[in-house]
Order: sequence, then structure tokens, then C-alpha cells
Amino acid sequence: MKFLSQAFVVVCATLFGSVVGDAAASTFSPARPPAIPLAVKSPYMSTWQYAGSDGGNGGYLAGQWPQFWAGQVAAWTGMIRVDGTTYTWMGAPTGPALVTQTSFEYTSTKSVFTMDVGGLVEMNITFLSTLTPDDQKRQSLIFSYLDVGVQSLDGNSHDVQLYTDISAGESAYHVIPAITDRLFRMGFWRSLRCRTMGSRYHQGWQNQLLFSETSDQADWGYWYYATKKVHGLSFQSGSDATVRANFQSNGNLTNTKDTDYRAINAQYPVFGFASDLGQVSGSVNTLYTIGLTQEQAIQFDGATGVVPLTSLWTSYFSSETDATKLSFVYNDYGTASQTAAALDSQISSDSIGLGGQDYLTITSLAARQAFGALQLVGNSTKQYLFLKEISSDGNVQTVDVIFPFHPVLLYLKPELLKLLLDPLFENQESGQYPNMYSMHDLGSSYPNATGHPDGNDEQQPLEECGNMLIMTLAYSQRAQDKAYLQQHYKILKQWTQYLIQEALIPADQISTDDFAGSLANQTNLALKGIIGIEAMAVIANMTNNTADGANYTNIAHDYIDKWQVYGIAQDATPPHTTLGYGLNDTHGLLYNLYGDQELGLKLVPQKVYDMQSAFYPTVADTYGVPLDTRHNYTKSDWEMFTAAIASDDTKAMFIKELASWINDTPTNRPETDLYSATTGDWPGQGAGTFTARPVVGGHFALLALQAQTAAGIHN
Ligand SMILES: *[C@@H]1O[C@H](CO)[C@@H](O)[C@H](O)[C@H]1NC(C)=O
Ligand SMILES: *[C@@H]1O[C@H](CO)[C@@H](O)[C@H](O)[C@H]1NC(C)=O
Ligand SMILES: *[C@@H]1O[C@H](CO)[C@@H](O)[C@H](O)[C@H]1NC(C)=O
Ligand SMILES: *[C@@H]1O[C@H](CO)[C@@H](O)[C@H](O)[C@H]1NC(C)=O
Ligand SMILES: *[C@@H]1O[C@H](CO)[C@@H](O)[C@H](O)[C@H]1NC(C)=O
Ligand SMILES: *[C@@H]1O[C@H](CO)[C@@H](O)[C@H](O)[C@H]1NC(C)=O
Ligand SMILES: *[C@@H]1O[C@H](CO)[C@@H](O)[C@H](O)[C@H]1NC(C)=O
Ligand SMILES: *[C@@H]1O[C@H](CO)[C@@H](O)[C@H](O)[C@H]1NC(C)=O
Ligand SMILES: *[C@@H]1O[C@H](CO)[C@@H](O)[C@H](O)[C@H]1NC(C)=O
Ligand SMILES: *[C@@H]1O[C@H](CO)[C@@H](O)[C@H](O)[C@H]1NC(C)=O
Repeated sequence: MKFLSQAFVVVCATLFGSVVGDAAASTFSPARPPAIPLAVKSPYMSTWQYAGSDGGNGGYLAGQWPQFWAGQVAAWTGMIRVDGTTYTWMGAPTGPALVTQTSFEYTSTKSVFTMDVGGLVEMNITFLSTLTPDDQKRQSLIFSYLDVGVQSLDGNSHDVQLYTDISAGESAYHVIPAITDRLFRMGFWRSLRCRTMGSRYHQGWQNQLLFSETSDQADWGYWYYATKKVHGLSFQSGSDATVRANFQSNGNLTNTKDTDYRAINAQYPVFGFASDLGQVSGSVNTLYTIGLTQEQAIQFDGATGVVPLTSLWTSYFSSETDATKLSFVYNDYGTASQTAAALDSQISSDSIGLGGQDYLTITSLAARQAFGALQLVGNSTKQYLFLKEISSDGNVQTVDVIFPFHPVLLYLKPELLKLLLDPLFENQESGQYPNMYSMHDLGSSYPNATGHPDGNDEQQPLEECGNMLIMTLAYSQRAQDKAYLQQHYKILKQWTQYLIQEALIPADQISTDDFAGSLANQTNLALKGIIGIEAMAVIANMTNNTADGANYTNIAHDYIDKWQVYGIAQDATPPHTTLGYGLNDTHGLLYNLYGDQELGLKLVPQKVYDMQSAFYPTVADTYGVPLDTRHNYTKSDWEMFTAAIASDDTKAMFIKELASWINDTPTNRPETDLYSATTGDWPGQGAGTFTARPVVGGHFALLALQAQTAAGIHN
């Protein structure tokens, strides 16, 4: 992972339409996150409402446009007309007054807003993005739901019309000027309208550039915005001003489409739906679904060379423009809601059991963000899961991003971890990577997993060899899949050989925390390598390679004894491990100790755990324990790795500080994992660095350890 050199988009002042109605009115439960997930389902469908005070409006749906994780505006709009007066409930269209938001609540899969519209009607607005770890078909569909409930608030019935639109052009999202010129050159658009299976949808179209991105948004695929064709529904495509004005004056749209295909910044084209709900007293719900379909998803340099891989939904539905897929998604809302509620409640009860409400505040915010970096691809015989290193550099399948992410999969579905590791094994085992150590990533720019045949990827050899060994064994233990160890034994042994040479006395190199700088003899990095060797001892024993098993066990134990001499400031008060060997007045989060517990190795003596647990509270800052003594910033993923293996009091301290950071942070992007432990703000490298990254899957580190007990791995 590394910082972007690319400048982040500056959000211009027109982002804010009018001021928030009654800013003090809304409650936020369980917290007011830095950004609220709206439609978050893949690297390319990642729409949020920025909330933190560095540029967000405090967590209100109306009065500010939703945004893509990288800052581009998604002019997703909602208006409602009650007894002839129009109000805005989402986004910042010019004109209407804003509804009053009274509450916001999030769960692992849902963001729910409650609005008071002029004291006349109440709205419940639910954004649902499902995670279906047990259901590949549904997980592979990049769709989210928006469900809008309306009912009378004052006992009288009211004449109500509901409106929503999305914009065409770049990824079908309305992109305001002042972002970059590049975004506009792309855009010609066209609206297509189909009547199929009783649903009505708008489908965005653009010049398709397969596997290309512009500022992290996909340049190919089809966007859909759909609702059911019912009595009272009208639609229109056209310029934002025209379509929205029609609704405001008439409460309906013209049922016409604008076929003047043009650049997206020329009279911004929007696709709008209006629903005449008639006289409303009891609750009426209207459902929309928004989604992206890309038949071709990834280019992969696998065993047979570079091949295009299709989205996995193609094995269930015939093509990109196949309307049965859309009908399936739309009509699946009941099932989707039930499955989501069950997952919400599982994560809720498990999180509360391990770390109380504060821990649930952390895990439930992380769930959609973590899964939102994934895409399931392949066909009915062979599936792969790909991950984008969102925001820090856009690499594909970065091993040291999969590692901090992987606890969420150990907790929810270890088999999905195999689907992430498979492409890394396949590429390297087929001889496409020349180095003897593990590669850092499968490609510099998602979605091109075209490997590094020249071996010139970012060099984190010790880190990645350790990560691959630990994660392979972790998967195999939980899935009871010894054959996987047998299948990859040769390359795992090769990586172990590297660790035997390099782990005890690490050369000057970067670790996964590359932004903190390089250093020789990093105590935490050495520990990962030594744990990797012991993991291989277990792998060898499990596959009947008993001589290797005995040898690696001896080496790992010898190394861990020496490591304790080199890496611990024994005479410090209190004693603690150091950042680097012999640097007795340094310290850092010893998060790699997690692997020892995760795999049930018992390689590292309990006294090291106890020493660290006693030490962390002595160096804790307001929002956490600094990553190391070089800086005041911390990393939320590594904090949860550290918390998971700490004593009860120290664990509670880490959890409490991260939960209060979520509520207090002025950062306004999808949860950053790197922030100042002192101020809770950006770490100093600049606003917007490290956002929306999948590493928040590591917030499930405590839950992953709980799951291992069930799998029979004991510490
Ligand atoms: C909103 O949700 C609450 C709680 O489920 C419910 O009591 C209320 O009737 C709902 N209101 C609308 C407008 O759907
Ligand atoms: C992926 O590779 C294709 C060529 O095969 C190229 O056109 C495209 O721009 C690349 N995508 C990214 C994001 O670099
Ligand atoms: C929209 O409403 C206006 C005013 O009530 C009416 O004249 C028009 O026919 C309606 N249009 C559609 C498409 O229903
Ligand atoms: C399924 O995917 C695998 C791996 O990419 C490929 O080798 C195989 O030919 C595909 N099968 C079909 C039926 O397309
Ligand atoms: C690394 O640690 C070893 C063992 O303490 C020591 O011999 C060596 O000089 C150290 N290397 C550096 C560059 O500090
Ligand atoms: C592997 O098996 C050998 C006996 O063959 C044993 O001495 C060693 O402790 C085992 N290693 C691990 C890590 O279980
Ligand atoms: C290892 O040896 C045991 C005992 O001989 C045998 O039951 C088991 O199938 C072997 N496992 C593998 C992976 O070869
Ligand atoms: C143990 O492993 C090391 C490193 O691979 C190797 O040099 C050594 O020969 C092995 N020893 C035995 C007894 O197999
Ligand atoms: C660091 O501490 C260790 C033991 O706590 C001691 O042996 C070593 O000399 C100290 N190193 C320095 C540079 O003070
Ligand atoms: C941490 O913050 C304190 C107080 O602002 C400052 O004095 C100190 O230099 C900072 N430390 C580092 C390593 O940046």
C-alpha cells in the first residue's frame, strides 16, 4: 500500500445547495460516521454521503450531493411533493426546501434516514447493500436498493408524489464541472427504456472503454436505475433543470426521453421517476434498485496467459442487458432484506458479545466498506474473487491489503479467502513471476490483474511471504482443506526458504506500513516472518512432510528465542517490544502477534502478550495507540488486530477509542484506516489519503478468533 501521488479531487463550493434545515434535529445511531454508505457494493459502485466536518455536512441526506469514494459527485436526487409543495430529501437540487432529518441509523447492511416533511408526512429512507457470503449469485450482482416509505404524520391524509433521478454520463453519475476536464470528454449518453416483467428502468449508455478507468470510475458497463411500473408512475430523461421543474410544477413527468445525445456537462441529462402516491395516510413504500453490470470484469494473467474473466453473474444470467437479471434483483428485495437482517443480527450479537456496543459500532460500519472492494468473477466451474486496493494506489490483489482485510472472511466465509488467494498462486505457480519471494500484487491498476512478469512490483518480500503462509494455513484450518496445502506445498516451501534466510535479521526495507518509511531490523516485521516459518511447520506436519515439519519447528523456535532478546526493551519501564532491534526508546503496535493466535501456534510465550497488554495503555493517545514512535498517527486495522489478542482491559481501551473516533473524527471520506491518534483528523499527509480501503475487514479481528474456536483451533 502506498500514498497516492495523484492529487485528490477538490470538491467545489456548488456541492452544497442550500443549508441544512434543522441541523440539530437528527439523532445518529450508533454513531455519526465520517461518511454514510448509500450504495456500496463494488469498487465501482461506491456512493456515500460525506459527513465529517472536513467537508461533509454532519450526516444529512438532504442539502448535499452524494459522492463517489474518490470525491466525484453522484447527483442522486430525491424530492417529495406534499399537498403541492415540493421538498428535497436527497442531494442538492436547486429550489425546494429541505426535509427535516430526525434520525439516522446504520447496521452492517443498511443506512436508514427518517425525515419529517413539513410536519405533514414522515419518510423512512432505507439504503440496503447486501453482503451475501454464502450466496455467490447474489454477491456477484452489483446492485443496491433504495426503499422509501411515506406515511402521514399529523393524522390527516395528504396528496403525495415522490421523485428521484440519477444522472447520465460518466458512470451514469452526474459529475459537476471543476473536477477534471477528463471526465467530460467521455460523455455522450442515451437513455433506453424497456418494459419488462412489470418493471421500468433507465439504462445508462456511454462510449465503452473496456477495463479502463477515469479517476477510479469504470469506463465500461451499464448502469441501471429501476422501479416497478405501477399506476401513477411516470418517467422522463432530459436536462436536470427541465425534468426536476416538471416534477415541481406538475408532480409528474412527461413519459418522454431526450434523444439529444450530448456531453454530460451540457444541460446535465438526468433520468427521473415520479410516483403519484395519491392520498397517503397509512404507510406506502416505493422501491428502487441501482446497479452496474459489466459482462467482462477483470483481465487476468493466469496459468494460460492473459485472459478476460467475466462477472460471475454471467453464469446465472445471459447477458449485460438481460432484463431478467433486473427483474430478479428487483423482485428479490424481500429475500435480500431478510438475509441482510439475519446477517445484521449475527454481526450484532457476536460483536456485542465480544466487545459491547462500541465494538458493534466499529464492525457494522466496516462491513459494506470491506465487501465493497470485491468482485466475484469466473464461471460455473471456476470462480475467483478480486480485490481493489482502493484509494492507496489501485493495485489488484495486494497481498498486504488482503492480509489486514482477511479477518472478515475468516469470520463470515473462509472459502472466500481461498478465492482471493487462488489467482496469486495460479500466476506465480505458472512461472509468471521471477522472484523467489511472494509478489506484492497482481497488477498495478485494477481491473488489470496482468501480473508482474518483470518482477518489478513494490518490494515487500518478507511481509508478503509471511502473509501468504499465514493466510493459506488460516483458510485451510477453518475449511478443513488439507488438499489446498498439498497443492501449493512447493511454492509455500520456496517462500519459507526466503523467510529462513531473511526473517530473523530483516534487511533495511519497507513493511506494509510503507508510508512510515523503511528501516532495518523491524521487530514486528521479523515476528511475521518467524510466525510464517512456524505456520509452514504446521503445514508440513499436516501434509506428512514430517522432516520439514520438524526442521521448520526447530528453526522457528530458535528464531523466536533470539527475537525476544533482540526486539524487547527489557529494562524499560514498563518493558515492551521495540520498533527496531536495540532501539530501546522506540515502540510500535505489535500487530503481527495476531498470527500466532489466529493459527493456534503458541510459538510466542504468553509473557510477551502480557507485557504488550500492560504497555499499550501507557502510550495511548485520545483516539488510539500510535502505530509507532515515528509519528502520531495510528491504523485502525492494526489496532483491532492488537486488541484481539490483548488483555480484557487493554482490549476495551482500543475498542472504546476507535468507536469514539468514528463519532468525533472531522475526516469526511469513507472511513480512513490512517488518522492522527491525537486529533482524529487526517494523518498529516493530506486530506483524503487512505479512504474506503478494504483493510477495515480487519476490524473483525476479534470475531475471526471467536470463529476459530468453533473450527476446533485452540489456543
Ligand atoms: C418508519 O419506521 C418506523 C420503525 O420501523 C415505523 O414505526 C414507521 O411507521 C415507519 N414510517 C414510515 C413512513 O414508513
Ligand atoms: C487495462 O489494460 C487495458 C489494455 O488491455 C487498458 O486499455 C486500460 O487502460 C487498463 N486499465 C487501467 C485501469 O489501467
Ligand atoms: C401530468 O400532470 C399534468 C397536470 O395535472 C397533466 O396535465 C398531465 O397529463 C400529466 N402527465 C402525465 C404524463 O401523466
Ligand atoms: C471457466 O473458467 C476457467 C478459468 O478461467 C476456464 O479455463 C474455462 O474454460 C471456463 N469454462 C467455460 C465453460 O467457459
Ligand atoms: C540488526 O540486528 C542485528 C542483531 O542485533 C545486528 O547484528 C545488526 O547490526 C543490526 N543491523 C542494523 C542495520 O542495525
Ligand atoms: C511437527 O511434527 C514434529 C514431529 O514430527 C513435532 O516435533 C513438531 O513439534 C511439529 N510441529 C508443529 C508446529 O506442530
Ligand atoms: C498422512 O498420513 C496419515 C497416516 O499415514 C494418512 O492417514 C493421511 O492420509 C496422510 N495425509 C496426507 C495429506 O498425505
Ligand atoms: C532445514 O532447513 C534448512 C533451510 O531450508 C536447510 O538448510 C537444512 O538443511 C534443513 N535441515 C534439515 C535437517 O532438513
Ligand atoms: C537495550 O536494552 C537491552 C535489554 O533491555 C540492552 O541489552 C541493550 O544494551 C539496550 N540497548 C541500548 C542501545 O541501550
Ligand atoms: C506528536 O504530537 C505532539 C503534540 O502535538 C508533538 O509534540 C510531537 O512532536 C508529535 N510526535 C511526532 C512523532 O510527530
